[in-house]
Amino acid sequence: MSRLHNKHIILAITGGIAAYKSAELVRLLIKAGAQVQVVMTSGATEFITPLTLQALSGNPVHQHLLNPQAEAGMGHIQLARWADVLLIAPASANVMARLAQGQADDLLTTLCLATHAPILMAPAMNQAMWHDLATQDNLKTLLARGFQVHGPADGEQACGDIGAGRMLEPNALVSAINEQFEQSLLSGKTVVITAGPTREAIDPVRYLSNHSSGKMGYALACSARDQGAKVILISGPTHLQPPEDVTFIAIESAQDMLEASLNVGAVADYFIAAAAVADYRPIMASEQKLKKRDADHGLTLELTQNPDILATMVQQHSHAIHVGFAAETEALIRHGQNKLERKGVQMIIANDVSNTHIGFNSDDNQVSLITASGVENLPLLSKQQLANQLILAISNIPNKA
Ligand code: PMT
Repeated sequence: MSRLHNKHIILAITGGIAAYKSAELVRLLIKAGAQVQVVMTSGATEFITPLTLQALSGNPVHQHLLNPQAEAGMGHIQLARWADVLLIAPASANVMARLAQGQADDLLTTLCLATHAPILMAPAMNQAMWHDLATQDNLKTLLARGFQVHGPADGEQACGDIGAGRMLEPNALVSAINEQFEQSLLSGKTVVITAGPTREAIDPVRYLSNHSSGKMGYALACSARDQGAKVILISGPTHLQPPEDVTFIAIESAQDMLEASLNVGAVADYFIAAAAVADYRPIMASEQKLKKRDADHGLTLELTQNPDILATMVQQHSHAIHVGFAAETEALIRHGQNKLERKGVQMIIANDVSNTHIGFNSDDNQVSLITASGVENLPLLSKQQLANQLILAISNIPNKA
């Protein structure tokens, strides 16, 4: 998973023949999962059309500082705040001079003054212009102010000269942007997450299930993915869209969920069981729809216990770190501690499901983290905020010896 997933990148393009490489740059950034807003100077539009960059970035191109329509949408200050990184590529001698003087006479220069994001630039110009003392002085000024300058590369130039002045290739610039972001907490790790309810068939049209919406498990999948993990989400039926960039396995019953979990268990570094698995299933699901009998005849269903998926994973894939939930209506901590021991997991996330504002099907949750070393109570949070904290806590669990 790329470190650029969901990162906000402004690509500012100035006038120069290397502007044609910007199209490939946008394509690579989007492919790496970044969100890209393109800013073009009027000079840039002489070399490449805004329409091309709009199509590649999926966003309208920003060209003017004082455009009432643009300011009504994402205005220049909002755009400056939105950015995680601002890359100027190609950066012409002219823009370097204007930035060195601190000008704010167009959208690009104004953004550079207004943003707190790191500013990278990839100069591209004729080799004599690059070596000119004025450009070199501007370069020193910009470096001293914290601009990061990548390139230019040596080689044959569009004008026929040979020397320093070629814009770095798009791949190299994507790597330079990547370097701006910390190594993620779960880079190189595989996280398997179960989510949602299971359905245990009574007959072809009826089943036993519960109120799990999948929100908690899906939020964990997004957080783990955003921390660089390869995520496998095994989900019972929900109304949620499978998160992007996550391997999604849809299942119905507890037995399906067990089978899917065991199939991927060997590659899991972490197994997080957020699913509300039905503890029992009908001994036999009727092949035909059960018929209603006389009013004075009831219906007795004989149930058998489902396998405990989490406990089975602990036994069969003991290399992984296992985290379970405990859905309780009383004695939260005591029952959670019992589950920690009984299932042999490294952490139990206990939630009080008797409170309708948290737990099943709500947007918020409040949990206690139970490990062998103690209990930590987390505040009431949205499930996504909570998932971010949980992934942080889970990534801090020491590796198994
Ligand atoms: O899906 P939402 O609407 O967002 O709701 C979230 C939630 C309330 C479902 C979630 O926060 C939660 O508590 N999930 C676990 C629900 C549950 O089944 O808890 P339990 O205490 O019965 O089970 C303990 C643990 O064993 C859980 O990790 C469960 O996934 C696992 N288990 C249980 C039974 C079984 N047969 N196999 C299992 O793996």
